[in-house]
Amino acid sequence: MELSIESRNVSRTFKSGKSGSVLKALDNVSMGIRKGELFGFLGPNGAGKTTLIKIFCTLLLPTSGSAYVRGHDVVKEASSVRKIINMISGGETPGYGILTVAENLWFFSQLYGIRGDVAKARVKELLEAVGLADQEKTRMNRLSSGMKQRLSVARGFMNDPEVLFLDEPTLGLDVLSAKKIRGYIRNWVNTHLEKTVLLTTHYMAEADELCDRVGIIHEGRVVACDEPSTLKAMVKDKTVFQFHVAGASDYTRLNVVKGVVGLSWAHHIESDTSTLKVVLSEETAVAEIESALKALGSRILSVESPEPTLEDVFIHLVGKGLE
Ligand SMILES: Nc1ncnc2c1ncn2[C@@H]1O[C@H](COP(=O)(O)OP(=O)(O)OP(=O)(O)O)[C@@H](O)[C@H]1O
Ligand SMILES: [Mg+2]
Repeated sequence: MELSIESRNVSRTFKSGKSGSVLKALDNVSMGIRKGELFGFLGPNGAGKTTLIKIFCTLLLPTSGSAYVRGHDVVKEASSVRKIINMISGGETPGYGILTVAENLWFFSQLYGIRGDVAKARVKELLEAVGLADQEKTRMNRLSSGMKQRLSVARGFMNDPEVLFLDEPTLGLDVLSAKKIRGYIRNWVNTHLEKTVLLTTHYMAEADELCDRVGIIHEGRVVACDEPSTLKAMVKDKTVFQFHVAGASDYTRLNVVKGVVGLSWAHHIESDTSTLKVVLSEETAVAEIESALKALGSRILSVESPEPTLEDVFIHLVGKGLE
């Protein structure tokens, strides 16, 4: 099967200038993404997602290993790769402040050498798609950050790339805008034959709902890679528990309780309560957790056993939550 994006044993290290210490941002990553696939990388801050995308986009060299986009080596054939891709990165400035929204997209279309009538129609379609049609004549520096992000996404599709890299495409977007953008990305892959999208996200629901396959990345390694439903099936039935407890504590110590595979928690300041997610090796270990919480002086308000999510898969694999 022909791969659209491929990495073979890619590692990337960064040297710190002062201390001379070496950080391994990517550690022997081998993976492949097919034509027609919408693939998502899910991982916490610093996992290596952007580093890998930058290598595929020819913006960063691998320290070792090789990577290919549509069969072109990203190091030796960088210019061939650049002709067929586009990349957008969450939070970046999507163009020139003094140009209007439509002028910015037009400007990029002309850098790509797109024929005038095609470019004009595409600008219109993309502004509709990202919900900026009514801002078409607004100068870019007057846009809110969420609007700038939407303009950035529109720019990614402007050259109708064969392979599109979206680094955190919905970063900072409100719920409805994020949904609209996700819908456009999904539809674009479904309706444009053999295109490939590789996106990164911290939002597990985004990876789950949107992507055909998800790669879970942690400390520079791809720790799992499959369809969301297959990944979730890795977590055994009835081994995920969610406790709602009064107050807050450092719950890391629950990691040593027998049967605990991993856990994560969040404190809710308004209600001074915490939500604690625990992944267990066996359902019966829940009694041990209840006793341990009591020993910590935590009052349990409720206990549920929800359906596993991709975050539970992450906890199951690395012992802690995504945040
Ligand atoms: N130019 C650089 N110089 C030094 N270290 C870097 C550089 N770029 C990235 N790193 C380090 O490499 C690791 C991976 O970073 P990367 O940006 O790929 O993470 P990420 O998964 O995209 O995280 P986030 O979710 O925060 O965007 C981090 O520890 C980061 O500090
Ligand atoms: Mg990143």
